[in-house]
Amino acid sequence: MRKEVVLITGANGEMGHGLIKHLGQQGNVNIIALDVQPLDDELKPYAMRFIQGDILDQMLLGRMVVEFEIRTIFHLASILSTKAEYNPETAHRVNVEGTLNLLRLAVEQSQWQGRPVMFIYPSSIAAYGLPDLETKNRAGKIRETQWCMPITMYGINKLYCEHLGRYYAANYRQLAADPDRSSIDFRAIRFPGLISADTIPTGGTSDYGPEMLHHAAQGEPYNCFVRPDTRLPFMAMPDAIKSLLHLMNARRSSLTQTVYNVTSFNPTAQDIADIVHSYFPAAEINFVPHGSRQKIVDSWPADIDDSAARRDWGWQPDYDQERAFSEYLIPAIRQRYAAPV
Ligand code: SER
Repeated sequence: MRKEVVLITGANGEMGHGLIKHLGQQGNVNIIALDVQPLDDELKPYAMRFIQGDILDQMLLGRMVVEFEIRTIFHLASILSTKAEYNPETAHRVNVEGTLNLLRLAVEQSQWQGRPVMFIYPSSIAAYGLPDLETKNRAGKIRETQWCMPITMYGINKLYCEHLGRYYAANYRQLAADPDRSSIDFRAIRFPGLISADTIPTGGTSDYGPEMLHHAAQGEPYNCFVRPDTRLPFMAMPDAIKSLLHLMNARRSSLTQTVYNVTSFNPTAQDIADIVHSYFPAAEINFVPHGSRQKIVDSWPADIDDSAARRDWGWQPDYDQERAFSEYLIPAIRQRYAAPV
């Protein structure tokens, strides 16, 4: 008998850390963790198996299927928006072909199991693209169907993979004589910028939020790469994990769309700097905007409308701006960087 497992790709990333810890602490889930990088020691106790490898490696994915019955996939592996611009074609391969490989694996698993494999996909505010700052400032809260004209390779990849997931769930091989009944159950969330106390993201463009905080907590100066008035939606990592699990547990019949926005608070970069200063008065934060990264952030919405998620699966964040810092980020970060005794 093959073991029933949950597969988490990008296990060693920002979101992977949060999800593996959370599921692992529940203790009733067999986690297969996949990442190109070695898994952090602190995550190892939670994973039934860690596989170091690439989602582009079809042989590796094939071997996994031989050994495990994959019931749920959290496909978190991705090359983020800033990093993707340094090698757009490689980003496309990882972000799109990698996702395609996992979708195909999920369909195959569904067929073997005779029931839909759940495929949870984190998309992003990068899927949006507002043409200029004036439009961004006027747009208000953006719904899932508005302004889907991303300007980054990462955003384009995310938007396309949302559609790929919808296709694999509803229309895969639709002209076959015996169309496949065991399709996948694909669900996606468009996340705002995420802030975690455990990790800093690698290669994103909303990274100025978490970077400002982590630098201050370590007593290091920080040059913020966007203007002080730059506004983006953000969310604390525990809420991001909560949203993934709530969407996973939602009744299929209550879902009216494939992709849902979630959000919590939407500070300006100056607001984040002020909060960081209030906890770390000696923090040295300078604003040194980087033209191209600023342009990317200016194309992302200042706020998003998550009323569909609230209505369909009862989404509500636990951490607003005040609580996110006072009850989660600051205490956890202080502990993280406390000098060893
Ligand atoms: N945080 C991501 C990035 O900055 C957006 O999803 O690329």
